[in-house]
Amino acid sequence: MAEPLRVIIVGAGGHAMSWKAHVDAHPGWKLVGIVDTDTEKLEHATLWGVPEECAYPSIEDAARWSEDRIDAAIIATPIYTHHLLATQAIEQGWHVIVEKNMASTIDQAKAMVWLAREHPALCTAVGTQYRFRPLWWTIRQVVREEQAIGKLSFVQARSMAFSGTMRAGWRAWLEDIYTQDMMCHHVDVLRYSTGLEFVKIQAMIFKPAWSKWLGASSVAMNFIMAPRGEENNKDEWVHGQYHGDWQGTGLKSSWEDQFEFFGAKGSLRIEPSLEKQKTAWEPGPIMPLAGEAAASRLVLYLDNENGSNKETRLVEKRKDVQHHPKGYIDQMFMLDDMLRCIESRGKQQPATCFEEAYKSFLVTRLAVESSRAGRAIWVPGHWIEPVAEP
Ligand SMILES: NC(=O)c1ccc[n+]([C@@H]2O[C@H](COP(=O)([O-])OP(=O)(O)OC[C@H]3O[C@@H](n4cnc5c(N)ncnc54)[C@H](O)[C@@H]3O)[C@@H](O)[C@H]2O)c1
Repeated sequence: MAEPLRVIIVGAGGHAMSWKAHVDAHPGWKLVGIVDTDTEKLEHATLWGVPEECAYPSIEDAARWSEDRIDAAIIATPIYTHHLLATQAIEQGWHVIVEKNMASTIDQAKAMVWLAREHPALCTAVGTQYRFRPLWWTIRQVVREEQAIGKLSFVQARSMAFSGTMRAGWRAWLEDIYTQDMMCHHVDVLRYSTGLEFVKIQAMIFKPAWSKWLGASSVAMNFIMAPRGEENNKDEWVHGQYHGDWQGTGLKSSWEDQFEFFGAKGSLRIEPSLEKQKTAWEPGPIMPLAGEAAASRLVLYLDNENGSNKETRLVEKRKDVQHHPKGYIDQMFMLDDMLRCIESRGKQQPATCFEEAYKSFLVTRLAVESSRAGRAIWVPGHWIEPVAEP
């Protein structure tokens, strides 16, 4: 077997621990150092399974002092550092996985895409790993490949998975917390499962008066999606509504959310479990997926010719993602995908490479712009190669 790729984790915090567990579990990767500006954390480097001398206060220090060759960096720091840290890592010649949101602004994200284009042998990825969960692979099969509900017309997407009392720290100071912290996952799974792009959005970003959050913790958005290349063809438009909320009350969705897809022949719905209304993230093994993701049900409602209900069928969620031979899902899938692309010397890029991730990220920033301006926004006008409004 080829030598494992040597990776450092930048930002030794909560989500980085999850990355460490996945890196440790994957035979193709080896953790050789950590970077954190919090020097106290560096004193506990052994918790990360690396010697104290492999804990660095900056990327430059890691590059200068590491005795191991460094091949890649996983950047799991607060969002507003991503653009600069990803730039530094790429300039060191490292492959990069950067956590979501990929940047704070559209200009920063565009600069990251351009930088990646200037380094085609390097592989990039953004941590929108929800798309690599069996639920979304199953939905993609039913809606996109099997066309079980016929031509899609409308999507209702709602996420109320969390009651919002524990997301403190740097997140508390984000002005539009929900769009930065969570929305990109939902935009990304909608793009992945339908194969459509967001073309027009009109959003309201707000904080309920009783919410404990400092920043705007809710998003309500009307949207239109279309197949790539058919942006200007209104017959191909699929309309939808999205509601994401960091302070769910009442019937909460599981982390698999409450999405419903409506088509010419019926609908497909993710139904939250009535039995399990706990929202805490439960510890679990790397595979199957940690947490309570399995609590929801996927139900297909099919119609007769006359429009009445012909059949209600429970859809069994698949166990795999994209027929992965080792059954890898989630972050394991990402690491494996990255490895495969690195072996191709960048000829193939990971599924959530900067270029692809930009399109999901973009929608989250334009939602804020739409809310502030009080108007609808034509999304393809902001693509890296812009497409004019019909
Ligand atoms: N993909 C997911 O499902 C998922 C889940 C949770 C968090 N995240 C993302 O992971 C990232 C980190 O979130 P978290 O909850 O682990 O945060 P955290 O606060 O637990 O950890 C962040 C760490 O980064 C360090 N840091 C801050 N600035 C730095 C810099 N310039 N250089 C090096 N280190 C620096 C902090 O000291 C801290 O140790 C965020 O982008 C977040 O959105 C993604």
